Amino acid sequence: MQSSTQTSTVRFSEKLHHSGIPYSETRLHIEDLLTADADAVTELDSGADIKSGLQQVPKSIPPRYFYDDRGSELFEQICQLPEYYPTRTEASILQHCAIEIARQTGSCELVELGSGSSTKTRFLLDAYTHLGYSLCYVPIDVSGSILTSTARELLTEYPLLHVRGVIATYEQALSQLSPTEFPARAICFLGSTLGNLNPDECDRFFSYITGTLQSEEYFLLGVDLQKPTPILEAAYNDREGVTAEFNLNMLRHLNHRFGGHFNLTQFEHFAIYNEQLCQIEMYLRSLRSQSVVLEKLNLTVEFAEGETILTEISRKFDLTQIQEYLQVRGLKCLDVWTDPDRWFGVLLCQKL
Ligand code: TRP
Repeated sequence: MQSSTQTSTVRFSEKLHHSGIPYSETRLHIEDLLTADADAVTELDSGADIKSGLQQVPKSIPPRYFYDDRGSELFEQICQLPEYYPTRTEASILQHCAIEIARQTGSCELVELGSGSSTKTRFLLDAYTHLGYSLCYVPIDVSGSILTSTARELLTEYPLLHVRGVIATYEQALSQLSPTEFPARAICFLGSTLGNLNPDECDRFFSYITGTLQSEEYFLLGVDLQKPTPILEAAYNDREGVTAEFNLNMLRHLNHRFGGHFNLTQFEHFAIYNEQLCQIEMYLRSLRSQSVVLEKLNLTVEFAEGETILTEISRKFDLTQIQEYLQVRGLKCLDVWTDPDRWFGVLLCQKL
């Protein structure tokens, strides 16, 4: 992923150069903090997190290993599945409230954490454009290839837009955002990605957010809400098996990256809703007792028949509780939008 990140950025500036437009005068600027930070690269590539996750009881694999090229493609497919309601529900809410959000923030710098293909963001970009507010979009993503190709599309779709993309983890990007020249800044965190953080990670995340935002700046959050178990479990166990393939792809990714010998037919996907903790838990289960070697990590992992690896949690929120949680952290909710079924929530907050 590192090298494709670099190439795609370089290729783009070359293209600009050939077209005779000097890079500095374009509306696009992309910064790669991921490859610039050599220590972070070494740590991310070392597989130390895999090693400790697979040696713990119960076993786990960090969710970031979902997203190789195939994984990103499968995730886009998940977002289109009939059972996977969060993406389309959040999109329909944004479609309705985007104008109101743009009115509240006014002309601003819109920072998006985990921007991916920026599909839902376009409702916001449309609203700012419609109101005639100047806008700078700052997408932040670890996938440089998606970030660059999306930025390119946006520049053609929105002729007045400036894009300043940052290829980085959230923490890297948030700690290095320079003060904005715009009257305001809004940080968006959509797709209920917040739910993929455990409570400690969540606290840490908000200390970065409140450390970055100035007083009166905005935070826009999309969260999946609590609802009956069958609806939730169907969303993570789709009939076509795309989620299963997405989950199993993690093992393929580890095989590729760390010389692993996982046999994908000897594991199965399963996802359950933990009603006590209000979270979907996604696992891979070993279908028999087996040992698996990961050559580059110098590691052999023993599995009992039926033993599981936790690959992701997806916490489901209560609208009142999340507002209280945000308020305690100095983020006051100005507005909350939801869909008629109250399945998903979008919250616009302001730093006190
Ligand atoms: N943020 C998404 C969610 O929690 C991520 C997601 C959706 C996901 N489907 C998944 C992660 C399947 C892993 C596997 O809903």
